Amino acid sequence: MANRDALTLIAEAAKVREHAHAPYSNFQVGAAIRTASGQIFTGCNVENVAYPQGTCAEAGAIAAMVAAGQRVIAEVAVIAGADKPVPPCGGCRQKLMEFADENVPVTMATMDGEQKTMTMAELLPGAFDQSFLD
Ligand code: THU
Repeated sequence: MANRDALTLIAEAAKVREHAHAPYSNFQVGAAIRTASGQIFTGCNVENVAYPQGTCAEAGAIAAMVAAGQRVIAEVAVIAGADKPVPPCGGCRQKLMEFADENVPVTMATMDGEQKTMTMAELLPGAFDQSFLD
């Protein structure tokens, strides 16, 4: 059972999922990020006829967060109309890790109410980070 904060975030992700532009996969995804300041930013997947140009829901939420001047992710929710909770793709795990520490919870939800929560460290073990550049 997800906590109340996660449920709020899932509800926001479900709302923005309605705006997904996914005519090619027909797979609508919504994502919501809560920042350390308590603000919530959302995004949906935006596909393109030139397929590789499409963007994931998580990327949209991250872009909205950064555009608003926020950079610290405290919690993430992702929702899609699948049989089981859909995890962020590999690229989005790296994108989230840019602004989230390893303990940040990512709750994945289905439209039927199934939920699964994993930490960023569980989703992206052995992440490439700034320490390799130092
Ligand atoms: N997608 C997301 O938006 N987020 C994920 O975590 C998984 C996949 C999108 C990309 C594409 O528009 C569609 O789902 C099918 O892959």
